[in-house]
Amino acid sequence: MKKFLIAGNWKMNKTSAEAAAFAEELKAKNLPNAKDVCVMAPFTSIEALGKGLEGSGIGFGAQNVHFEPSGAYTGEISVAMLQELGVGYCVIGHSERREYFAETDETVNKKLKVLIAAGITPILCVGESLEVREQGGEQTFVAGQVIADFADIPAADAAKVVIAYEPIWAIGTGKTATPEQAEDMCAFIRGVVSGIYDNATGDGMLILYGGSMKPSNAKELLEKPDINGGLIGGASLKVDDFAAIAEAAASL
Ligand code: PGA
Repeated sequence: MKKFLIAGNWKMNKTSAEAAAFAEELKAKNLPNAKDVCVMAPFTSIEALGKGLEGSGIGFGAQNVHFEPSGAYTGEISVAMLQELGVGYCVIGHSERREYFAETDETVNKKLKVLIAAGITPILCVGESLEVREQGGEQTFVAGQVIADFADIPAADAAKVVIAYEPIWAIGTGKTATPEQAEDMCAFIRGVVSGIYDNATGDGMLILYGGSMKPSNAKELLEKPDINGGLIGGASLKVDDFAAIAEAAASL
């Protein structure tokens, strides 16, 4: 049976009080696949979200972390700080962080290593811009990201990473990649991972699609063989929509 992960990415949305209310409503949905569902909150809302989800089996996490253990890094958050909150997941290398906050493959690689060492599951985002896709360079671009992001990470550690393929042109635009485009790239990424490591690592890797996934298109994306779930932005802000996507995965 195919493994799934349905991950919400709230981005810069929801205060602690809003996170607590969301958690209560989501818990009340009694999702059949709760352990395959997680929500990534802003740092300040993680604690309330985690408390609210207690006993539900639903995971929670952060959207970034710093790679140094402590020190003079004003405004940053360390892995130990996340561990203390009990986070299970952390989004790394989201295109918004790469574009607006100078995240590079080098910092992504360092962050992957500290998260793996801490036992927090990284959700590594990769994906090309519209310009790159229009020039037909999407596979080269994404392969380059995957290879650089996994540099010096041994197979046993790589197996702990979740990859999210998020074409930048589909994020928050309402313009979803077609199921075929999403499947093609997720299958391609799986091949790249197999090439770096071995077939077992590639076959076992969870590869999500992200970019305007919503209840109306979730099933056709999720039923594709190489798509193991979704990283969901806008639609994760509404409990009903998010739960409907999780239920679509549970039905497959
Ligand atoms: P979206 O965002 O679902 O709002 O397109 C996805 C993401 O950026 O993770």
